[in-house]
Amino acid sequence: MSDTTLFKVTIDNISIDVPAGTTILNAARMIGGDVAPPAMCYYSKLEGSGGKCRTCLVEVSKGSEKDPRPMPKLVASCRTTVMDGMEVKNITSPKVVDARAGIVEFLLLNHPLDCPICDQAGECHLQDLSYEHGKEGTRYEFQRRTFKKHDLGKYIQLHMTRCILCYRCVFAADQLTGKREHGILDRGDHSEIATMIEKNLQSDFIGNVIDVCPVGALTDKTFRFKNRVWFLKPMNAHRDCPTCSGKVTLWNRGEEVFRVTARKDQWGEVEEWICNECRFEKKLSSDWTIEGPRLIDRHSVISQGHYAGTVGTNMPTETIEAVLHGRKPKLLMDIHEVSEVNRPKIELSKINGPAHSNNFNPDND
Ligand code: SF4
Ligand code: FES
Repeated sequence: MSDTTLFKVTIDNISIDVPAGTTILNAARMIGGDVAPPAMCYYSKLEGSGGKCRTCLVEVSKGSEKDPRPMPKLVASCRTTVMDGMEVKNITSPKVVDARAGIVEFLLLNHPLDCPICDQAGECHLQDLSYEHGKEGTRYEFQRRTFKKHDLGKYIQLHMTRCILCYRCVFAADQLTGKREHGILDRGDHSEIATMIEKNLQSDFIGNVIDVCPVGALTDKTFRFKNRVWFLKPMNAHRDCPTCSGKVTLWNRGEEVFRVTARKDQWGEVEEWICNECRFEKKLSSDWTIEGPRLIDRHSVISQGHYAGTVGTNMPTETIEAVLHGRKPKLLMDIHEVSEVNRPKIELSKINGPAHSNNFNPDND
């Protein structure tokens, strides 16, 4: 069949013509909004991804014009291609809503409830999924899995307890780097992300595994614990990079660049892969040409941080002082007693204004 053949598919009562070979998920994304099922493992830029997490399940109530029988079971929309005349139910199907709540429960079986200290909080797809599709409680009464710690090198921190085994990072490493050095070892509930014989991940593009990870299992060591993403201002910026396109999003507070990530589209997928040098080594505003604020979906908590007029390099107003009529807040807790996050000689309660990344201990990885 030629690529230009169009199939008509109806999803949640909205019809669209899509090229033959399009998956139900991608057809739903073309319609957009709530019609698009959530996807925790599929990633359009990674070949072979999808089919692992089952969050994208949908009901096919009519197979096609030629064979209108419904499909007997819910199907993974990221792996099922449309047929001409197909009718699909996503949010309009009580079966799908119920199954998705069950999937969320499964994904959370072993996932720790450490959102308050997790760097992914605020941009975690599992957090969004559980708010939108999960149930309030858990029926799980057993101990969650624990793992031996693996050191992946100076840039990337692995928290295996948070991993949902979506395989995205494995595909990313396989397809972006010359030689993949990590993968999923063992089987069943012993499966874990690891490198063989404690290797470090070093390839020039390996930092992208942080961006594709839907949860906080792989995080940026140069940003860990330094700030909450919703306190930072995302800005489009670029530089003349010999290795990658150099087009990134900077996450600033005032003039300080806290982290650098690839730019992500409305589905949370990277638009262009970036190299390690741009991501981990270029942390000065002067390294970049700032283009302007990056628009973040209005549903995201990050979009609550409003831009202060110019390109977002203005310091945020100190609201506590304003509320206290100019009086400086007195902080009573000496963080040294409870944390090793900051540098030993820095007392966070005594520094002027908000903490900067050089107040924190770089060795605390
Ligand atoms: S570490 Fe992240 S990207 Fe890799 S398999 Fe686990 S959840 Fe997926
Ligand atoms: S997104 Fe389809 S199975 Fe994970």
